[in-house]
Amino acid sequence: MTILDQPPIVGTIPALEADGISKHFDGVFALNAARLSVLPGEIHALLGENGAGKSTLVKVLTGIYTPDAGRILRDGEQVEFANVRVANRAGIVALYQELSIIPTISVAENILLGDQIPSRGGIVNGRELRRRAKEQLDRLNQRIPLRQLAGDLSPSSRPWSRSPARSPTTPASSSSTSPPPP
Ligand SMILES: Nc1ncnc2c1ncn2[C@@H]1O[C@H](COP(=O)(O)OP(=O)(O)OP(=O)(O)O)[C@@H](O)[C@H]1O
Ligand SMILES: [Mg+2]
Repeated sequence: MTILDQPPIVGTIPALEADGISKHFDGVFALNAARLSVLPGEIHALLGENGAGKSTLVKVLTGIYTPDAGRILRDGEQVEFANVRVANRAGIVALYQELSIIPTISVAENILLGDQIPSRGGIVNGRELRRRAKEQLDRLNQRIPLRQLAGDLSPSSRPWSRSPARSPTTPASSSSTSPPPP
């Protein structure tokens, strides 16, 4: 897939840019020098037929796949996302429609999944864990009992208990994504 971007607005640095990204699987080119430029505050839709490479581009931008060629730039600086966590720290997060909560652990633990869990001597520091989780929820103006098992939440509360809810600055979306409910 090759994505042509609009001419850049002079003087504005894209928040996120994919420049000549290629990725192939067993000889099949999923992306062939794909380009995408997202200016601050812009919303883009990736459109294309099945197999066009939309999901692959999102996965490259969020650190799931390493591109075979090309560059990713964040605020004009070249970056390399070795994994999802690194992309996450740079504010690049994919919000998938399918919920990825773990029902058998608490809301607080779900929110901090993938982060370093606060612990001392191998024992989880529950108070610190809940403090950090509350910080994330406060940013989203959500109040959910942090000790509650995520599986016991009502369906409307569940989206807030997954880790990508930590207010990404630049969410990368694909056809299978949707924003959290209001
Ligand atoms: N992990 C993989 N292994 C092998 N081939 C893959 C893999 N992921 C994607 N492909 C191939 O790369 C191409 C692009 O796939 P991709 O899933 O990115 O397309 P898409 O635009 O998201 O399609 P859809 O609209 O069906 O979701 C397809 O030919 C697909 O078969
Ligand atoms: Mg797809």
